[in-house]
Amino acid sequence: MAPAEIAESELLLQTFERRFLAARVLRSFPWQSLEEKLKASSDSKLLLHLLQKTARHPLCARYPPSSSYVRRFLSELIRKPSGDAVTLRESTAIIAHGTTGLVTWDAALYLAEWAMQNPATFTHRTVLELGSGAGLTGLAICKACQPRAYIFSDGHSHVLEQLRQNIILNGFSLELDVTIEPEHPTVTVAQLDWDTGTGPQLSAFQPDVVIAADVLYCPDAILSLVGLLKRLSGCRKDQRPPDVYVASTIRNPETPQLFTAQLGQAGISWEAVPPHDRTLFAYEEHWEVVVLKLTL
Ligand SMILES: C[S@@+](CC[C@H](N)C(=O)[O-])C[C@H]1O[C@@H](n2cnc3c(N)ncnc32)[C@H](O)[C@@H]1O
Repeated sequence: MAPAEIAESELLLQTFERRFLAARVLRSFPWQSLEEKLKASSDSKLLLHLLQKTARHPLCARYPPSSSYVRRFLSELIRKPSGDAVTLRESTAIIAHGTTGLVTWDAALYLAEWAMQNPATFTHRTVLELGSGAGLTGLAICKACQPRAYIFSDGHSHVLEQLRQNIILNGFSLELDVTIEPEHPTVTVAQLDWDTGTGPQLSAFQPDVVIAADVLYCPDAILSLVGLLKRLSGCRKDQRPPDVYVASTIRNPETPQLFTAQLGQAGISWEAVPPHDRTLFAYEEHWEVVVLKLTL
């Protein structure tokens, strides 16, 4: 092992040791770093060393923490490194080919994390995602929440091309109405522009849930999106409007204000979903992210 890799492992082990011996809440442990280290590392004894620094630490034998704490720690340890992963092909530039959709934005991570903590919102339901970009949120939902059908959509042709590759890369088939395994949802990709998407096109989707992440980045996008949501409100055969969740990074307070003002004008009510801890992903930005639940 390279010296830098050894130093990294030691730092990680030390962080686990200190937090465990201080009986800190489990969500404050660097699980994500451990998961990444276990996937990338050539150190086959990392888990063993981790146990020696925590549950099998001599201090732990002399002054044991509660057995429920140790049990929950060990369950987390077993679960995290073997968790399913989403693999993505992305652009290295934030804007490429005139679109922001070739990279994953923090709101997509946040919405995926929320979905995994609230899988029932998606289980056995048809989900339409607007502005899917690279596909992280949808792929996480398809893998973790058992939707009946998932419709990824975007308006940009380069984004759609990369999105299709990412869906296939993660083991999903894109053939219409065909599933590879019974527990897999039907996955489709649609070119859907918020300005030009028509009532009949939207009616074909029949979504129970509509989601979107980081789609409120300029006034034009907000107006287009609210227009589309208005058209979506009457698209279901049973007249029950879909549940809508929009996740946004608050980089500038005027943007959500414009969005909520436009929602008000369109007669769409909204409420903020309570925030959750960001424990699963490594976030790039440090802005607040909010999820709004809309009632169409
Ligand atoms: C900032 S990216 C967010 C991508 C992804 N949801 C994420 O959070 O990582 C915005 C996405 O919305 C799409 N988009 C923007 N305006 C659109 C429109 N009028 N119609 C359809 N898609 C649009 C872009 O192509 C892009 O993929």
